[in-house]
Amino acid sequence: MKLKSAERPESEEGLQYHLRVKPGDVSKYVLLPGDPERVKRIASFWDDAWHVSSHREFTTYTGKYRGVLISSTSTGIGAPSTAIAIEELLRVGADTFIRVGTTGSLHKWIEVGDIIISTGAVRLEGTSKLYVMLEYPALASYEVVLALIEAAESIGVKYHVGLSASSDSFYVGQERPGFGGYIPPASRGLIEHLKRVNVLNFEMEASLIFTLSNLYGFRSGMVCATIANRDTGEIIPDAGVDEAIRVANEAVKIISEWDLVKERKNRKHVYPSLLKEWLVGGGK
Ligand code: URA
Repeated sequence: MKLKSAERPESEEGLQYHLRVKPGDVSKYVLLPGDPERVKRIASFWDDAWHVSSHREFTTYTGKYRGVLISSTSTGIGAPSTAIAIEELLRVGADTFIRVGTTGSLHKWIEVGDIIISTGAVRLEGTSKLYVMLEYPALASYEVVLALIEAAESIGVKYHVGLSASSDSFYVGQERPGFGGYIPPASRGLIEHLKRVNVLNFEMEASLIFTLSNLYGFRSGMVCATIANRDTGEIIPDAGVDEAIRVANEAVKIISEWDLVKERKNRKHVYPSLLKEWLVGGGK
């Protein structure tokens, strides 16, 4: 692979250094799981799907879901590799991202298997700090949040909506004992504090995605399967994953329809009365 320069590590055709995708390879709507295997699982729900590339932790599929061109790219675990995925996907034409993750709930009432739709995230990771000061908010896009809620309602899954916390660390940064029981002072009492300030769950990528989303002007959201409950101690690695995938796929279909409505009506934003006809038409 011949690259343009150290500053612009892409080929003449726009093939990206890490993801090995080029313009035309991906949809504007991209689902972002962490796990490369989950990309295939997401694509198994589509009507048509083809493998685009696999390189390191980044696997990309593109396909059709209910008539909509859709892609999915794995980000790997954590904010640094997720930033690489976003940077390169933006360069090849993506503009709407939905993370499809797994998560640990902080509250007893958010049970293993439940779905969490995030409205924003506490920035407990380091990558977004390299882009912009910590006071900058990590907010999901309201259109994506709304579409995820619409999708969850139409599918009939049990879901919760609220704030997440994104940590660079699965173990000590989420107040799980490290090797030999080590917990750093900064993490002691973190779960109790986050519960107190109404944070729903721990995961590892959302705040980076949401920060870049506002900074660069693309849309983003997140739907997670609750596989662990930090209050009860329960953990089931696959709980709710298919439901989160179904909600994310359906949200893309909904957003694509809303995009058409906006285009037709020459509007920049979605608002309830704009969607009157869409609702009467049963989502058309
Ligand atoms: N992912 C996380 O980051 N934490 C959990 O507890 C479960 C999934």
